[in-house]
Amino acid sequence: ALVTLKEILAGTRAGHYAVGGFNFNGYEDAQGIINGAVAKNSPVILMASMGAVKYIGLHQVAGMVKGMAESVDIPVCLHLDHATDYDLIKEAIKCGFTSVMVDASAKSYEDNIADSKMIVDFAKQYGCSVEAELGKVGGKEENIVVEDASAAFTDPDDVPRFVSETGIDALAVAIGTVHGFYKSEPKLDFPRLQKIVEITDCPLVLHGGSGVPVEDFKKCVQMGMSKINVGTELKATYSNAVRAAVAANPESEFDPRKYVGPVKDACAKVVEGKIDIFGSANKA
Ligand code: G3H
Ligand code: ZN
Repeated sequence: ALVTLKEILAGTRAGHYAVGGFNFNGYEDAQGIINGAVAKNSPVILMASMGAVKYIGLHQVAGMVKGMAESVDIPVCLHLDHATDYDLIKEAIKCGFTSVMVDASAKSYEDNIADSKMIVDFAKQYGCSVEAELGKVGGKEENIVVEDASAAFTDPDDVPRFVSETGIDALAVAIGTVHGFYKSEPKLDFPRLQKIVEITDCPLVLHGGSGVPVEDFKKCVQMGMSKINVGTELKATYSNAVRAAVAANPESEFDPRKYVGPVKDACAKVVEGKIDIFGSANKA
């Protein structure tokens, strides 16, 4: 069933597990993510970036994922990821997205509060959840590029006022992860995460999950991380599955399902692995 981000994250911190937020770009990876979660009896968050929405269409994304969610017995959240276009956010909320991320992290602290609060007030009317970001996660996420020099860790002292004034349901923190593949092993700032966990009850979100070592994931979850985003790894999984299927089939094979169908199982396997690490199996 389709649920909000608030609902899906409700038991996470106390239960010491995190729910995976997985980016998708089409039918096959979206269905694969759901299948992986069903196999593990885990809640799951399907995330469409602005780029994915532009590619598939807003109504198409909403209709497809609603149909998928209604066909399974696990909680599924449909989330708009890293949105900087406020008109698009409002359209997504009206379309039935159950969660949106307002990404005003490039703006000043005061503007970030004002913009995030404006989106929360709008989303409330529709029963939609809101995630916002404080600090700047580095790297490249679709069209959002944050150079190393301007990436900024979340200041724990900024958190309480940000959470209470905006009324957000989840807070993305910058503690050393980076979007896209890592150039070198990420160095996570665990003392900083500890301070943030102690200073707020708001569910926390870790971005840039692709390439984070398993032990770092586990430590984050143990400390109280509630949502962990994985995008790039699934993109690579999608592409590799198609390449392998093309290579394995004779040129006379022209059924497209032979080429893109394997993406479903490939993505499901990746998701199942992450669910085991995040501890969300059997939490549906
Ligand atoms: O919002 C999406 C995630 O933060 C994805 O990050 O592509 O590095 O896994 P990633
Ligand atoms: Zn992200």
